[in-house]
Amino acid sequence: MLASAHYQWITFFFLLFFFASFLFIFAPESIVASSQSFLYPAASTLVRAEIFIQNPAEYVLPFIGTTNGGHVFPGATLPHGMVKAGLDTNSPDNQAGYDANPMYDAIGFSQLHDSGTGGWATLSNFKIWPYASCPSFTECPTHPTKRAVPRKLLPDGSVDDAASPGYFATNLSTDIRVELTATHRTALHRYTFPSNSTEPRLLLDLTTDGMKQGYKPTMLIEPIKARITGDAWFQGSFGPGEFHLFTCVDFKGEGYDFGNVTEYGSWHMHAVEPNTITFSGVYSGAAGAVLTFSPATNGTTSILTRVGVSFISSAQACRHAEEEIPDWDFERVQSDALGQWNELLRRVQIDPTGVDEETVQLFYSGLYRTHIIPADYTGENPRWESSEPYYDSYYCNWDTFRTLFPLFSLHDPERFALITRAMIDIWRFEGWLPECRGSTLKYWIQGGSNADPILSEFFVKYHEYAALLNVSASDLYDSLVTDAEVEPGNWDLQGRQATEWVNLNYIPDGRSGYGGASTRQVSRTLEYAFGDFTISQVAKILGKTTDAAKFTLRANGSFNMWNSNTTLPGFPSVTGMMQLKSKDGVFDKYTDPRHCSVNDPKHATCYLDPSNHDGFYEASPAVYSQYVPHDTAQLINFQGGVDKFIERLDILFNQSYFAVTNEPSHQIPFMYHYANRPGLSTKQSRRVIFESFNTSINGLPGNDDSGAMGSYTVFLLSGLYPIPGTKQFLLSSPFFPTVAFSNPLFNTTTTIKAVNWAGNPPDGVGTVYVSNVTINGVPYKSNCYLEWDLFRNNTLVELTLSDDPTLGCGSGADALPPSLSTGGFD
Ligand SMILES: *[C@@H]1O[C@H](CO)[C@@H](O)[C@H](O)[C@H]1NC(C)=O
Ligand SMILES: *[C@@H]1O[C@H](CO)[C@@H](O)[C@H](O)[C@H]1NC(C)=O
Ligand SMILES: *[C@@H]1O[C@H](CO)[C@@H](O)[C@H](O)[C@H]1NC(C)=O
Ligand SMILES: *[C@@H]1O[C@H](CO)[C@@H](O)[C@H](O)[C@H]1NC(C)=O
Ligand SMILES: *[C@@H]1O[C@H](CO)[C@@H](O)[C@H](O)[C@H]1NC(C)=O
Ligand SMILES: *[C@@H]1O[C@H](CO)[C@@H](O)[C@H](O)[C@H]1NC(C)=O
Ligand SMILES: *[C@@H]1O[C@H](CO)[C@@H](O)[C@H](O)[C@H]1NC(C)=O
Ligand SMILES: *[C@@H]1O[C@H](CO)[C@@H](O)[C@H](O)[C@H]1NC(C)=O
Ligand SMILES: *[C@@H]1O[C@H](CO)[C@@H](O)[C@H](O)[C@H]1NC(C)=O
Ligand SMILES: *[C@@H]1O[C@H](CO)[C@@H](O)[C@H](O)[C@H]1NC(C)=O
Ligand SMILES: *[C@@H]1O[C@H](CO)[C@@H](O)[C@H](O)[C@H]1NC(C)=O
Ligand SMILES: *[C@@H]1O[C@H](CO)[C@@H](O)[C@H](O)[C@H]1NC(C)=O
Repeated sequence: MLASAHYQWITFFFLLFFFASFLFIFAPESIVASSQSFLYPAASTLVRAEIFIQNPAEYVLPFIGTTNGGHVFPGATLPHGMVKAGLDTNSPDNQAGYDANPMYDAIGFSQLHDSGTGGWATLSNFKIWPYASCPSFTECPTHPTKRAVPRKLLPDGSVDDAASPGYFATNLSTDIRVELTATHRTALHRYTFPSNSTEPRLLLDLTTDGMKQGYKPTMLIEPIKARITGDAWFQGSFGPGEFHLFTCVDFKGEGYDFGNVTEYGSWHMHAVEPNTITFSGVYSGAAGAVLTFSPATNGTTSILTRVGVSFISSAQACRHAEEEIPDWDFERVQSDALGQWNELLRRVQIDPTGVDEETVQLFYSGLYRTHIIPADYTGENPRWESSEPYYDSYYCNWDTFRTLFPLFSLHDPERFALITRAMIDIWRFEGWLPECRGSTLKYWIQGGSNADPILSEFFVKYHEYAALLNVSASDLYDSLVTDAEVEPGNWDLQGRQATEWVNLNYIPDGRSGYGGASTRQVSRTLEYAFGDFTISQVAKILGKTTDAAKFTLRANGSFNMWNSNTTLPGFPSVTGMMQLKSKDGVFDKYTDPRHCSVNDPKHATCYLDPSNHDGFYEASPAVYSQYVPHDTAQLINFQGGVDKFIERLDILFNQSYFAVTNEPSHQIPFMYHYANRPGLSTKQSRRVIFESFNTSINGLPGNDDSGAMGSYTVFLLSGLYPIPGTKQFLLSSPFFPTVAFSNPLFNTTTTIKAVNWAGNPPDGVGTVYVSNVTINGVPYKSNCYLEWDLFRNNTLVELTLSDDPTLGCGSGADALPPSLSTGGFD
């Protein structure tokens, strides 16, 4: 994640602060709607892939992680839609606009948004606000601090808000019901006023975005058309620069014609200027328009508000709105959105028999959250002209490269291809691949250049389909090499500290970066090394053997940071840690391995913070000392062998070094696999689910990180953990008797079925350990990982479960998951 809600950091640039089956299985009616099935085209065995859950969207709980720092967006959006219509509150945790905590008031209903990010609240643009009654037109409270009102509360004290994929609703304390739905670039709002509201009014706030105000707004009210067009400039969330955003807002009575608007005017701060259609002299501060409408004469007054947005022009915003919602049919828009969500979520099927509903909800809610961002802004890129797709909101690749994109490999390759093309296009026009990006702006880099493992992940799995998917293999490779070897002017915003990396094969202590902070040298080195490993996999596929050898060698740079003399305080047997090194190759600066963990006596943090001078980013040295995903076998040697490695992992867990809140820890629960003790991985990864993820509004351990936590949940519940840029998925037992991934490009379904599956014992003790694996009935080489090939065919993977936690990966030469130093990945 980025700056957590619990920490603050100061930017010098803004002078502002922020927080920072193959059988028919019978299950309860409520869950199974399995009338539909289809036949596998497999030549050998004719098998039936079952649809266990026809409408998975019913299990999505959009409010998971919407308070206590989860920063999840619960509003209305299509999968990867540009428009994300949602309720904005005055919470300091309003990065996604919303906060489920009733102590925060509603201040508007805005059109864009990110989800699960840190940084600064942004994309909460062009808020609409309803008034049931103002003392008079000019006395409507306009400024967000004055117009704020609580939401209604339910008997249990929670807010009266409801949401489902593509739909959001709230009841305000002013008796106004607000509902939101969305198409790709247009929001549709419905404001239903109380029956005694004789002068229903709506305000448009053109400038208030999260905690910052936009500036240089322009506006035109067309009272006869009941249309407002406008634009303003806004600052980004996590980096320098600004973006220009346009809107086109139309109003219509639902079920009646309200005629002309009866009153109109502009407003600035607290003052309404009646009968004005533009601003005069407004440069900054909250500003916009207010309109009064005739109420319905028979029945309830509902005003539909259609909001188009564009990064190009107001005219384009109007075009989007007119093309996407010509019929003003709220129910039609809502049902189309729901249909798109169900089609996408249905690709991953689980058998819910014997599983509690909360686990099913956790699964599909996690899958849902992986498809909120990146957002598809194709046709909306103001920075260069290109016929390629344009996706934005990579916030940040550092968070999402480990699990989110590998999940796309399993069920959404077409989307993955579009995002890959969009990233390559950013390289074409900006020189380097994006790392962190939002609102069309480059954001601060946290560690490595993590588009590299993302593009490598795509290519390793889909290179035979690259041409079909219009992904240029040569441009993809060139963009990776640029990232790896060409240093940009400002490696705080793109690329790498490439010169030092190429020359020294590690990032030395000494230089400073963002705001005077250290450059996170150790975590950077480890990420560059893994990045280069993934590039070597692409080079190999392309037949570039010299390059492949070079990048493979550089990947070994991880071990340049290993200081064999550093021990974990209190645990002298834990010897050797990743540490800062000078450019002369000397470990002359000690970083306490507890640094930035819950055990840190200095309670230091390691966010992007000018006061961070210790070389690590968002995880302790103890955690980073596990981070060499491409060569865990060698790491085991460095740590003193298998027994010491297992002991160290145990200590990481029993002393709370494992920190689920941030992604560098995410592979650790599965690392016992490399020591031939997969049962311990099963135990720990199941504990992660039970202890840290649940379906409540605070059910996330910190930020969702743009779906990174959602994808992590899906993998853990599936009994899988991916190594990006490789063909392997580490394997454990699923939380369901069956998990199946359908791939629309291959037109295949891979079904993982757990034989002897007997539930999910909360203490991890039970029939949850994989004793053997068969593929279409034939014994498999390993009980510890699955190869990508199995996901390219209609495959039945059967795991036989046992209650013996001491079982190993198998006895064959390929039973352990691969590592470079033991000849893996060839
Ligand atoms: C996918 O497979 C099904 C079942 O074999 C077949 O009916 C269908 O035509 C295939 N679709 C495509 C696009 O190949
Ligand atoms: C709001 O109030 C309406 C009418 O009383 C009710 O149908 C609805 O369930 C309430 N809650 C939401 C979130 O719409
Ligand atoms: C409408 O009725 C509500 C509750 O019955 C009341 O609080 C409100 O003041 C009324 N509004 C007007 C404009 O009469
Ligand atoms: C709307 O306003 C225009 C201009 O003031 C006027 O010509 C027209 O008659 C009005 N229409 C209605 C339905 O009030
Ligand atoms: C209101 O009256 C009009 C005209 O009489 C009718 O067309 C419309 O359906 C009515 N609306 C409602 C909500 O009853
Ligand atoms: C790839 O490009 C061709 C030619 O521009 C186009 O016809 C085709 O639809 C594209 N395919 C995809 C998956 O974008
Ligand atoms: C990788 O680095 C380690 C430590 O520096 C060294 O022992 C090992 O030989 C290196 N491996 C290769 C293939 O260069
Ligand atoms: C570890 O300590 C020994 C003894 O002081 C020293 O000789 C050696 O160079 C040190 N190794 C590192 C990597 O600092
Ligand atoms: C933690 O793990 C270590 C290594 O296995 C073990 O020696 C120690 O007893 C464990 N401590 C606790 C509190 O479980
Ligand atoms: C739900 O998860 C959150 C975040 O990990 C945790 O703080 C909270 O205690 C959990 N709630 C329950 C009821 O387990
Ligand atoms: C798989 O494991 C189960 C349970 O341990 C055992 O009964 C069975 O014989 C094993 N099958 C194979 C093919 O090894
Ligand atoms: C799976 O698919 C791949 C690629 O299409 C093919 O090479 C492989 O032989 C297939 N394996 C099986 C077991 O069908």
